[in-house]
Order: sequence, then C-alpha cells, then structure tokens
Amino acid sequence: MGIEYLKAEGLFRLTAGDTEYVIGIADGKYVGHVYFGKAIDDSRCGYLMRTEEPPFVPSRNPGEKGSFADAFFWEYSTWGVGDYRESCLNVRTAGGSRGCELHYEGYRILEGKPGLKGLPATFCRDEENGGGMTLEIFCRDQVLGLKAVLRYSVFEDSPAVIRSVELINEGQETLYLEKVLTACLDMDLEEGDLLTLGGSWARERHMIRRPLAFGKQLVSSFRGESGHQDHPFLAVMEKGAGRERGQVYAMHFVYSGNFMAEAEVSQFDNVRMVMGIHPEGFEWVLKPGVSFTAPEVVCVYSDQGLDKMTHIFHDLYRGHLIRSHYLHKKRPILINNWEATYFDFDSGRLLEIAEEAARRGIEMLVMDDGWFGKREKPAGSLGDWTVNEEKLPGGLPRLVKEVEKLGLSFGIWFEPEMISPDSDLYRAHPDWAMHLPGREPVQSRAQYVLDLSRAEVVDYVYESVAAILRSAPVSYVKWDMNRQMTDVGSAVLGREHQGELFHRYILGVYELQERLMKEFPDLLLENCASGGARFDPGMLYYSPQIWCSDDTDAVERLAIQEGTALLYPLGAIGAHVSACPNHITGRMTPFRTRGHVAMAGTFGYELDITKLPEEEKQMIQNQVETYHRFQPLVREGDYYRIASWAENRRYDCWEVVSKDRREALVTFVQVLAEPNRHSRKLFLKGLDPEAEYCLEGSGRVYKGALLMYGGFLVQPMKGDFMSQMYHFTVNYER
Ligand code: GLA
Repeated sequence: MGIEYLKAEGLFRLTAGDTEYVIGIADGKYVGHVYFGKAIDDSRCGYLMRTEEPPFVPSRNPGEKGSFADAFFWEYSTWGVGDYRESCLNVRTAGGSRGCELHYEGYRILEGKPGLKGLPATFCRDEENGGGMTLEIFCRDQVLGLKAVLRYSVFEDSPAVIRSVELINEGQETLYLEKVLTACLDMDLEEGDLLTLGGSWARERHMIRRPLAFGKQLVSSFRGESGHQDHPFLAVMEKGAGRERGQVYAMHFVYSGNFMAEAEVSQFDNVRMVMGIHPEGFEWVLKPGVSFTAPEVVCVYSDQGLDKMTHIFHDLYRGHLIRSHYLHKKRPILINNWEATYFDFDSGRLLEIAEEAARRGIEMLVMDDGWFGKREKPAGSLGDWTVNEEKLPGGLPRLVKEVEKLGLSFGIWFEPEMISPDSDLYRAHPDWAMHLPGREPVQSRAQYVLDLSRAEVVDYVYESVAAILRSAPVSYVKWDMNRQMTDVGSAVLGREHQGELFHRYILGVYELQERLMKEFPDLLLENCASGGARFDPGMLYYSPQIWCSDDTDAVERLAIQEGTALLYPLGAIGAHVSACPNHITGRMTPFRTRGHVAMAGTFGYELDITKLPEEEKQMIQNQVETYHRFQPLVREGDYYRIASWAENRRYDCWEVVSKDRREALVTFVQVLAEPNRHSRKLFLKGLDPEAEYCLEGSGRVYKGALLMYGGFLVQPMKGDFMSQMYHFTVNYER
C-alpha cells in the first residue's frame, strides 16, 4: 500500500494490494483520471490522459476548451463549464447563476484515514490509525471562493480505493450546493455490461445485468432510504466478464439516504460512473466559512470477475467498516415472535415460546412490534415508547427476568423514527411529523415520519429508546423503519434550508445510533427497514447485521441472499427459519432446507415453536448444533457462488472456504425435482489444489484440484426444494 506524488511526472499514484489508481494534473490545473486497474508501476503512464491529442489542453488550444472539457477524464466533474456528461457538482450563487470549475491547488498525503464527522466511514482498525493512507487533493473555484478537498484512502490489506469530498466556502457570499455527488470514474470501454441490484419489498437485491447502452443508465432512490427497489451499488463489467474472469469496476455508497448511481456511455465510447446523494430534493446552503462533506464511495476494481470483487468488499467491510465487537463473535440464535404472533401476544405467549425455544437450544427471545402504547395493529402508538402493562404485567423488568430464568437473553423491536397520527406524541407535537405547509401528509402503514433534523426530536427519540434499555437487561435491538418518505418538510428549518432535510434526517438517524452504541456498547444492534430497505454500508457501521428481507421463503431467499452476498459478508445478513406455508408466498419447503438457507446468514427462527410438530422441534436441535459448528467458518470465510438458481432456474449452490483453505462448506439447493437426471457436476472454488479434502460422513478424499477442475458430483434428490450441505476438511493424516 502506498500513496506517492511523482513530482517529475505530476502524477499521484495510489497502490493498494494488486491495484493502482493514478491521478494526473493536466495543464497545471485540471485534475484528471489516468488509471484504475491492475498495478502497472510505470510512472510514464501520464499519456493515458490524452492531453497530447486534439482537442489538446486549453493552454494549447484555448479556442476549443469546450471540446477538451467534454472529453477529458475528470476526477471530479463539475456542471456548467463544458463537460456535458453527468456532473458531480453544481453550485448556485446568491445571484442565481450556476457553474463551477475546480482548479488544482495542492495536495497532502496523510498517514491513516480521518473520519467523516457525523457520517459512517471506513476506518483504520489499528489504534494509531496505521495501516492506511489518505491523499487529499485541494482544488478551488476562484470565482465562487469554493474550496474542494478530494479525498482518496487506501488500506494495507485491501485493494479498494475509498473516496469522499469536502466543500468549503472560503468566499464572502453564501453558496447553494444543488448537487454534490461523491465520485466519478471515467474509463474507456467499448462494450460492457452494467450490474445492479434491485427489486421490491420481499424481493430485494436481485442481481440485474444488462448490456451497457449509449446514454445514461441510472439507479437511484429519493425515498429517504436506500430502498427495496434500488441499491446504492453499480458495477461496470467488460464484455464476457463473469464470476471468475474479466474486469469489473464497482462503486458502493456508504450512506443510507437518497442516492444516485449512474453509468453513462458517451460519444467517444467512454463510460462514466458516478455516485452520490441524489440531487432531486437536495440543496445545501453553504454559508461563508462552512463546509459540507459528502458521504464516501468505495471503489473496487477486479481483474478476476465478480468473485474477486465480492472478496474485496467482504474483507473491507469486515476489516474496516463494521465496528461492533460482535463482528468476530458468534451471534446468539434468536427466536423472533413476529411471524409467530404478530400483534397478538402477551407475556404468557412469549414465555411459552421462550420455554420451548430454550429446550431446543435457542439462545435469545426477541419481542417484535406491539409491546408499547396501545398498539394492536400496524396503526397507532408509534412514538409512545412505554410498555403496555396489560400485555406485559410487571413491565419489561419482570418479562426479561422470566426469560432469563429460562436461560435466554432478551431482545426488543423499536421503530424510533416514526410517529403515528394516533399517538400521544402526535397529539402533543403534531409539528414533529414531517409535512408540507397546507398539505395533509401522505400516510404509509398509517404513520408519519419524525423530523429528525430537529435536535429536540432526536433527543426525545433517544431518551425513549434509552429509557427502555436502561429499565431492563436488553441484549439486542431490532431498529426498524417501515415507510418511505414523502412530505419532506420541516416546521422549523428555515425556507432556504428545506432542501437539506433529507440529508439532515439521515444525519439524525446516524446520531441516534451513534449515541446508542456509545451508551450501550454491548448491545447487538440489527437494522431493518420493512425487511431489507436499509441494507446498505452506512448501516453496517452501526450494526454488524441487517435484516435482509421480510421474505423468509427459502426459495425466494436464494436470489435475495445471492444478491446481498455479492457485497456483504454472510455474518451481516439477517436470516431466519420461518413457518410453512410461508406467510408471504404460501410455499411449502422442507424444514431442513429452510435451515440450510438461513445458515448462510446470522441464523435464527421466526415462527411459533410451540406449534411445530415434534419432528421439526428435534430438527431445531440439530440445526442449532450445525450452526454452532459452522458459524465461525460462515462468518469469517471466503464466500463463492458455485451456481445460481436466479440464473439457471434449477438449482443453487454456494461455498464458504476458510481463510487457511483447510475447510470448506458447500450448500446445494435443488429447487424443482426433475426426473431422469444424472448427477450435477459442481466445480468448487478457492481450495488448495494440492491439499487432500475429506468429505465428512463419506470417508471419501479428494484432491483440491480434483474438486475444483474435475468437479464434485451431487446426486439428484427426490422432492422439490431439497438441500444438502457438504463439509470438506483437509485430511491431516495424509
Ligand atoms: C417490518 C419488519 C418485520 C417486523 C414488522 C413489525 O416489516 O421488517 O420484520 O418487525 O416490521 O411491524
């Protein structure tokens, strides 16, 4: 790893693992992109900026500055002065004019990586901030008096390049930031594909691959959250690139609010990728002397397809983004009462579930929605965070004590960012709900969204949650957020500042979770948003696991978890075994398969265990043991996709290999049974080709090379939705 300034060539070179990122200064002014890819280590690469080709740099051909601006590979593109491709920055002056041109002023290279105030960000795990470096490039728009700091960080143990931007008003007049994206990446690519993740509620993060076409291809959210529909991720793949082969350029946004991510194929067969806060509904007032920091973007390059990209993201997030000390710890196997009881429960019901759960080796009871205020249905009481003593006589202390007596720890659900029109809180503070003057705010799930740009609202929310957590030993919180935003207006933010509300809201959420983790450092936090609408890297900074989807159907989960695991380590993926017929799809799947699929995540249960047949109760005991055995491997290992049901519509297969390559766990799911089939040949990955792997339970031994290149045979199973786990360990007796 390293960052250096090559003075003679006027280049900045960042190296990280086998990757190199090179920035150049054209004409002494323009910060240009030279290269991002496999390390080349040749300081003569500056010609890649093409400043010697017509239309030349403006000093050599001032009459064609416009053509230069529209073709140059910018590190940070700005609007209004000649570059017609998607820009990152657009600024309006007090006088109402728009346009910005940033000129290079200088640089600084720092050891370590500074944090971003109020925002989630990757960090050096080393206490002395070692193991990482940061380059700051200073630019200025003289006319606006605007200074921009372009930040690039690298870590010793990761080939990713992390970017963020800070804008400082050093002029005399107020500036209005209309658009601040974080990063832009220009590249030559004549033919390629775009990979994104998208879907809907209960169908989150399906992989969507399509050919890159001329013009702009956008994924975005202005729902106030990352959303079920789109994901703040974008990858451009060279034609023919696949799991193991080909070049991939990826961007992932460490943020939980509105975003846009775009790939634009422009007139010269160039591709521009951009990512940042969605400009729709955004405007930030930048007073003189004040700065604005845009959330960071992780840029990843892989020369070996998606598998390598996945490993880079997984290792980066485990090593440099997830702070919780649960990161490397076994998570308790929990049972959540949501699908078991919905709102219809009391202490007695919960204790019945807990008692049976304890008998089967489950370790934590999580009480979901419905324990507070007068909440009996998904309407009412959000904001009134006081225990409903009719349901829970003796309050939380008594319930938690009873649960603990059974040997289980206790977790609880909150939806702290919301307010029900039918709540004491709303009756007392109707203006705390976001709303637009003169309009009745849109209800969704019969609720409004709290205005978290207001300090007193943030304090109220914090104190409500903290008071409950202080009242009894609670080990886990599921932090939910069940509606997308509308009517984004604040009663107290001045007229000029309403465009800041979306972002200020998310800053409020981050502040709340930061305070929570400071006061309750041992709390296991799981973020959630109507299932998986807030599965994003921003949330990972606060919670080591995130609820992946309300869809717990084992078959539907294959595609959802495949897309999620493309970027996120399995230990971050909230996954539970639920009852059949599945509450969403009505599908019947074997209990065993549901267990296998949930084991590719945090693992737990979401069903009424008291109503299960004895045979399934016994299977729980077996699943619990399996989870205990394999959880370190699943949490810490390298994940590989072997086959994808989403692609082949027949079967699914994934593998986790320990970092030392001495152990591998393969999970195979046969979706629909087919008659008259031979065995399936699976090519395993990531093994030591020379090592001898013993397949547990069979006595068979295979060389790693045989399993990877010759293949492993899986026999067809009778029945739909059947699954099998195969555990390989290196034969020590060799
Ligand atoms: C959301 C969550 C569910 C459950 C309900 C409770 O939909 O995703 O898991 O907690 O809210 O209302």
